[in-house]
Amino acid sequence: MKLLVTGAAGYVGSVCAAVLLEHGHDVTVIDNLSTGNREAIPSGARFVEGDVKDCVDSVLSEGNFDAVLHFAARSLVGESVEMPEEYWHGNVATTLALLDSMVAHNVSNLVFSSTAATYGEPASVPITEDFPTAPTNPYGATKLSIDYAITSYAHAHGIGATSLRYFNVAGAYGSIGENREIETHLIPLILQVALGHREKIFIFGDDWPTADGTAVRDYIHIRDLADAHLLALESNEPGTHRIYNLGSDDGYSVKQVIEACRTVTGHPIPAEVAPRRAGDPAVLIASSEKIMRELHWNPTRTDLNTIVRDAWEFTRQLGERAHSAPRG
Ligand code: UFG
Repeated sequence: MKLLVTGAAGYVGSVCAAVLLEHGHDVTVIDNLSTGNREAIPSGARFVEGDVKDCVDSVLSEGNFDAVLHFAARSLVGESVEMPEEYWHGNVATTLALLDSMVAHNVSNLVFSSTAATYGEPASVPITEDFPTAPTNPYGATKLSIDYAITSYAHAHGIGATSLRYFNVAGAYGSIGENREIETHLIPLILQVALGHREKIFIFGDDWPTADGTAVRDYIHIRDLADAHLLALESNEPGTHRIYNLGSDDGYSVKQVIEACRTVTGHPIPAEVAPRRAGDPAVLIASSEKIMRELHWNPTRTDLNTIVRDAWEFTRQLGERAHSAPRG
């Protein structure tokens, strides 16, 4: 298929673009490089540098695009509380421009990168797709608003769309992994300690209502996540908007994640308890039963040590690249 992939300089978008190319698709990327890395864009893709809202119409007007995979977005919960305007304009307004352009140029297949943050603090786990959506931050609210927009565009204009609600994406795929200028995510931060780039990892709260007192999350391997995008792309039906959770149906506490990183890296990884982080729920675990049943999604890298091992391999490569890069 001839595909437009937005945000393919970011972590999730770049891995998905690489996997789409491996499956023989023709990939054009739009990314403004505001948070992504140019070198993460797979070499087989055509790259258009710029904002999606400015570039999408000229790209889609070339004709013959079969589908769009939309990853470009701001995605940090804390930042969204401090700078909501960046999220409403950057996420919602951008996606509306994309949808309008799809309608104008008869592109009717969309896969959208959504999030568990649309559910907010769940009353119980595992979270299924029919749980109430009550986001507790602007990031989740923008993604939920986009889901509403997609539903109405799908019905009115015959677009076949799937929103994939990611839980905690982690791991790496070959030479692509988590490589952000400002890192806030648990696994890459722990691995920076193992690499010697940080002194210790802070555990945000050990008084949560969980077995060991630390927060529990559902970690999903980035490569399994990419497979779900392929399945969604191939099965979208005109006029229908489907929503699926993507997780592993299992949860690990912050302490368990640190322990897995100690095992995989062989490094002691000093840890210190710090206050809870604002906006963090205690436990987030997905039910992915719906996508397994309907699209036959079959994640194969669900073991936490496998996820950490791939992330560690990438982190070490990154450390070596930084070390050997010319200075000045
Ligand atoms: N944590 C620490 N110390 C750290 C960093 C994180 O204890 O230095 C804890 C957090 O408090 C949380 C857990 O580790 O309990 C995971 O935190 P992450 O920042 O790695 O991920 P989040 O669960 O906060 O958020 C991720 C995505 C969001 C998405 C959310 C939905 O980054 O975009 O999952 O599940 F909305």
